[in-house]
Amino acid sequence: MTAMERIALSTPDLRGREAEYLAQCVRDNWVSSAGPFVVAMEERMAVLTARRHAIATVNGTAALHLAVMAAGVASGDLVIVPDWTFAATAAAVVHAGAQPYFVDVTRDTWTLDPELVDAAIRKAPHKVGAVIAVHVSGLPADMDGLALVCSRHGIPLIEDAAGAIGSRYRDRPAGSFGQISCFSFNGNKTVTAGGGGMLLTDDDQIAGFVRSRSTTARKGAEYEHEAVGWNYRMTNVNAAIGIAQLERLDEMVAAKQHIAARYDAALVNRPDIRPMPRPSWAEHNCWLYNAQVADEVGAGSLVALLGSQQIEARRFWRSLSSQEPYATAPRMLKGVSRDLSGSVVTLPCSSHLTNSDQDRVIATLHAWRDKAIAA
Ligand SMILES: Cc1ncc(COP(=O)(O)O)c(C=O)c1O
Repeated sequence: MTAMERIALSTPDLRGREAEYLAQCVRDNWVSSAGPFVVAMEERMAVLTARRHAIATVNGTAALHLAVMAAGVASGDLVIVPDWTFAATAAAVVHAGAQPYFVDVTRDTWTLDPELVDAAIRKAPHKVGAVIAVHVSGLPADMDGLALVCSRHGIPLIEDAAGAIGSRYRDRPAGSFGQISCFSFNGNKTVTAGGGGMLLTDDDQIAGFVRSRSTTARKGAEYEHEAVGWNYRMTNVNAAIGIAQLERLDEMVAAKQHIAARYDAALVNRPDIRPMPRPSWAEHNCWLYNAQVADEVGAGSLVALLGSQQIEARRFWRSLSSQEPYATAPRMLKGVSRDLSGSVVTLPCSSHLTNSDQDRVIATLHAWRDKAIAA
């Protein structure tokens, strides 16, 4: 009997010109944080998001850290973040000397609730310095609703578009909203650079600040510094991979959307699994395919059954406010993040996943239901 082949969750799809561009880095001796691919990647991202400025960073967390500082958040300020997000959103706030203020997401969209953000700002125990909207696994948050609340209170809006490359909110691309937006090019993203991030803005002053602080705040080529800076610049080696990936963005997003449509069809009329929401405002890049089951225990049993079939799946985010580092952080919750916490499962969705491998995943999803009915 031949061994069953393992199906991974979401792995890089390096079938473009990655090797060619990497060889070019070595041949031309541009391997560090200066080089033509870094600039090319910035230019491409600025065009993609219709932004005036794009600044490449070592990862998405660094881009978010710079964003919080550049938005003018002062030490001790509160920054509103969804309670259901990746840890980096809140960590970036803490790294900038501010405090995360956790607000719930809506049950229908899984993204930050604008009405609750409004209430949270009104009842805030301290000054709110910024709001960070997160596009959950690529699904755009309600940017009109959030922009309205932020402008009403005069608070900057930051867009954490880490996984949302290629997504659209109404007629605009993800990354084009708020004062600042950030992307990640981590290995599990639709477009990877191995590791990397990008900060985008239309504001010249913010762009100048971020360029300076991300490159040790050096004044020129010599060792004079205008402030305490960070070494946050993306390398040319990473950008070589990133630019090759960006060349295939449309193809990879289309592949992810095809995979998502097949899962949606397979899960239709299943009361035991709820596919990720599809709000009317969103064109979703379907970076990760998520589905919710009854609770954390059910999610664990689904992941275990898939695992026994050599299929990698994973319980998704946990509510951050309920975790140790944030035990005393202020919050405004309605119980949605608590319900989502651990009950959402990510299914295999690499852009190179084949139909026949996906059929194996779907067959196991059906077997999980049949087992539950029989029990
Ligand atoms: C919502 C969100 N924000 C931030 C990040 C951080 O990006 P990076 O891993 O590149 O630091 C991620 C990464 O997955 C993310 O999903």
